[in-house]
Amino acid sequence: NSVGLVPTMGALHEGHLDLVAKSKSDSDITVVSIFVNPTQFNDISDLEKYPRNLDNDLEKLRKFNPDLVFVPEVEEIYPEKPLVKFEFSGLGDSLEGAHRPGHFNGVGIIVTKLFHILHPTHVFFGQKDLQQVAIVRRLIKDLSFDINITVVPTRRAEDGLALSSRNARLSPEERSTALILFNSLIYAKDELLKGANWFAVKEKINRRFLEEPRAKLEYVELVKSETMETVSSITPEDSCSICIAAFVGETRLIDNMTVTV
Ligand code: PAF
Repeated sequence: NSVGLVPTMGALHEGHLDLVAKSKSDSDITVVSIFVNPTQFNDISDLEKYPRNLDNDLEKLRKFNPDLVFVPEVEEIYPEKPLVKFEFSGLGDSLEGAHRPGHFNGVGIIVTKLFHILHPTHVFFGQKDLQQVAIVRRLIKDLSFDINITVVPTRRAEDGLALSSRNARLSPEERSTALILFNSLIYAKDELLKGANWFAVKEKINRRFLEEPRAKLEYVELVKSETMETVSSITPEDSCSICIAAFVGETRLIDNMTVTV
């Protein structure tokens, strides 16, 4: 049997459910894991505030009838603080890796543990976590896991905001402000396709954020989608993506958009 794994931290939304639906259609057995992984949070208050609602999650999953929902306790996964450390060199140094020190070490540890515990043949990730996808691809290769990775497109609200468990923390005003991430990506993509200079585009996005008191830009970068290497222009040889991270109020959001010439 093929075993599809959908790793999540709960607070499930339609984006997660797309992954579950994909696993159901591609695999004989579908396992969904729900575990808010403490080792990938570099900020303790972010971990404490992370939305949790297991009953709601199980209710949402019922419709998809997964074969197993794996909801371990922190003590079961981490009987001791792991000594092993993951370092993804160039892949993990930019973007999220640069702004959330230790984040990808924690992702590497939990994903490896889930692979060993649940023995998936297939694993499903969302495009929204582009750098995480690149990291997990490499982890699978470097550690010789016999696992196929499938990336599912980002699910967006009607106005374009990428669905995220963190959106639940936005006030109604912040929810409308949050659209600045999507609008910046659309603007950047259009400009790049028209041949604009990336640094001019970046500067304009920076200015837009400075005019918005409820939002604070953390980064906006143009990268090669596979290697996460920052670049200053799009080329026909490589798929490039614009990646953005920003605080809206106290909530940190990320998004990305692929641009191909
Ligand atoms: O993308 C997430 O929700 C998490 O990083 C993951 C992959 C479930 C690991 O905790």
